[in-house]
Amino acid sequence: MLFILVASCNKNDRPKVDKMVIATSMKDQNIEQYKLENSNGVVVELLNLGGIITSIKTPDSSGKIADIALGFDDPKKYLESHPYFGAIIGRFGNRIAGGSFSLDNKDYQLAVNNGSNHLHGGIKGFDKVFWDAKSFSAINASRVVLHYLSKHMEEGYPGNLSITVTYTLTSDDILKVRYEASTDQKTIINLTQHSYFNLSGDFASQILDHELMINADAFLAVDENQIPTGAHTAVAQTPFDFSSFKTIGKDFNAENKQLEIGNGYDHCFVINPSETAMVEAAVVQHPKSGRVMKVFTDQPGVQLYTGNFLDNTLTAKNGGTYGPQTGFCLETQHFPDAPNQPNFPTTTLNPGETFTSETWFQFSVK
Ligand code: BGC
Repeated sequence: MLFILVASCNKNDRPKVDKMVIATSMKDQNIEQYKLENSNGVVVELLNLGGIITSIKTPDSSGKIADIALGFDDPKKYLESHPYFGAIIGRFGNRIAGGSFSLDNKDYQLAVNNGSNHLHGGIKGFDKVFWDAKSFSAINASRVVLHYLSKHMEEGYPGNLSITVTYTLTSDDILKVRYEASTDQKTIINLTQHSYFNLSGDFASQILDHELMINADAFLAVDENQIPTGAHTAVAQTPFDFSSFKTIGKDFNAENKQLEIGNGYDHCFVINPSETAMVEAAVVQHPKSGRVMKVFTDQPGVQLYTGNFLDNTLTAKNGGTYGPQTGFCLETQHFPDAPNQPNFPTTTLNPGETFTSETWFQFSVK
């Protein structure tokens, strides 16, 4: 493996960004690894491959730094099959029933890569492509700007879609993810970030002891194929009630049809309406380490996925393997299957419009 340190900028205490190039056996396709770092010891590493966040290091309440994002030690491992660790997901995150939808009475068939569904952009979604990356360092933030042109009919989606994702690490420990996209033909879009977190920093331990609050009075119940029925189901008096802090494990094993279908939590929550553009969608705290993560977004939904399909086949960073519930995802997004559900907020993007969206992950201790 070839590591070349290409650039490093650090003036005084300002957040800094480093870049490393890792040669692959593919022509012209080197993996570039970027490291965003601030003076509080928060470090975020990411790749031009899939925009994958490979690690997030944050201090615990005693100042001890640990990596809290699941993934691999060796960046080349991300070229192999994995469950979307840390990746940007698109063109359409989550499921589309039958992989089909229509726009202006024209039917489109996408790849079917999850039972009878299309999942997370298809066989070669945004998680598997190489993005053009540029890094910047400013007074209060360092950032990496990723760009990708998704060609007309790539994975079956109409329109040439130009997309920019900007990762920014601020001096106050917020990792901001900003998405911007435009198209030359009517298309659909639903972008998310698929980091798996374990705030303990110990990937051998389950996340069931993490306390979670989700700002949602309702979630989208799903059918046997994990496609939303369309109904907003009240969380009250169900295992899905995270309206005040509760450990993820509290009701995890409750007898409940929805938990049975998802093999655990794997559902989109309907974020409560707000007057402000950025809403605090979820807060997770890990009492033992004191780590807290807040998730803010302007999207209508957040998918809670508790790593139910992690099955000890992938080697964890610090040795061992990733087992069920050793990580959780909070994937901010539009609602699954929205192109087929007229009552869901639209995911159509028209030429001449610019899609923009932001999600922030704020790290702190308690
Ligand atoms: C989905 C899960 C899926 C997982 C793949 C999640 O976003 O909701 O159903 O298994 O991604 O890692």
